[in-house]
Amino acid sequence: MEKNIAVIKGDGIGPEIVNEAIKVMDKVAEKYGHKFNYTEVLMGGIAIDTVGVPLPQETIDKCLASDSVLLGAVGGPKWDKGEGKMRPEAGLLGIRGALKLFANIRPAKLLKPLASACPLKTDITDQGLDLVIVRELIGGAYFGEKKTYVNENGEKTASDLMIYSDHEIERICRVAFDMAKKRRGKVTSVDKANVLDSSRLWREVSHRVAAEYPDVEFSDMLVDNTAMQLVRNPAQFDVIVTENLFGDILSDEASMITGSLGMIPSASLGEGSLGLYEPIHGSAPDIAGQNKANPIATILSAAMMLRYSFDMGKEADAIEAAVDKALEAGLRTGDIMSEGMTLVSCSEMGDRIAGFID
Ligand code: IPM
Ligand code: MG
Repeated sequence: MEKNIAVIKGDGIGPEIVNEAIKVMDKVAEKYGHKFNYTEVLMGGIAIDTVGVPLPQETIDKCLASDSVLLGAVGGPKWDKGEGKMRPEAGLLGIRGALKLFANIRPAKLLKPLASACPLKTDITDQGLDLVIVRELIGGAYFGEKKTYVNENGEKTASDLMIYSDHEIERICRVAFDMAKKRRGKVTSVDKANVLDSSRLWREVSHRVAAEYPDVEFSDMLVDNTAMQLVRNPAQFDVIVTENLFGDILSDEASMITGSLGMIPSASLGEGSLGLYEPIHGSAPDIAGQNKANPIATILSAAMMLRYSFDMGKEADAIEAAVDKALEAGLRTGDIMSEGMTLVSCSEMGDRIAGFID
């Protein structure tokens, strides 16, 4: 198969980690007889510096015209002082919105070779940790009306509207239930229905969808309790479905308890097969350009692209198996380094993983 991939390398460590993912994808293409064509497009801080906006229209057009999008990371201290619309993050939110990518899939799994990096006690991790967060990605407070103004008392005031309509909740719940059917058959819907109207609607709609999936075990959980349960007993979760802001927070927590933020990929999907694939970590400006970053989350994001956008299941399995082999061989970047392991650079990690593709 021939596929066209738009590539957003972005800022900080973005270019380094994306290069390694491409290296691994090219190895897959060679072994399995595919052709991947890459078109680099600008987004984030580099786009602000080069063309004056974080998300040029040309980037949106080229992404829409491609079969899928691979993204490194955007942002950095250089652009932190910009106002809302001129920040690199606005590019990320803009592309998610423009491509209508409403479903963000964030798996968190404890990999055996990295168990020692997990901050939880072994009696907790012995129960296992293999969950997926399905985060609504283009609604809620991120996309609701935003206002900064001076109120009647002359005081600066700001608000972000957390808003959801029925169909937005329904479609993301369906993604979660369909996913649960392919996994351990359990969905936990996370909300704050004891306080928020938007959460009460969330609960109503999620229960309606749940009724269509009688073979999936379903429950609600309040978001504060979920934050606590994730560290107390993460084995209870299979698929967690939640709104945008809650999902942002809980997915960082979930990734941390697996041992490294540098390991977790993500897929952002809409109605069609076009998706955006990116590591969940940021642009790590402190180590940018030093060939030290961990490319594994980006490489695993490429595997998700093959699986979800291109329907190349065995090729995706091959990438995941190659990552396991690299870890089992004791190869570690600095963020996951531990005693007795072999410290490798970003590009060496990419080389070795590509070498394990078969
Ligand atoms: C994420 C990030 C983004 C988000 C930021 C960079 C805008 O934290 O993908 O989780 O909040 O969605
Ligand atoms: Mg986040």
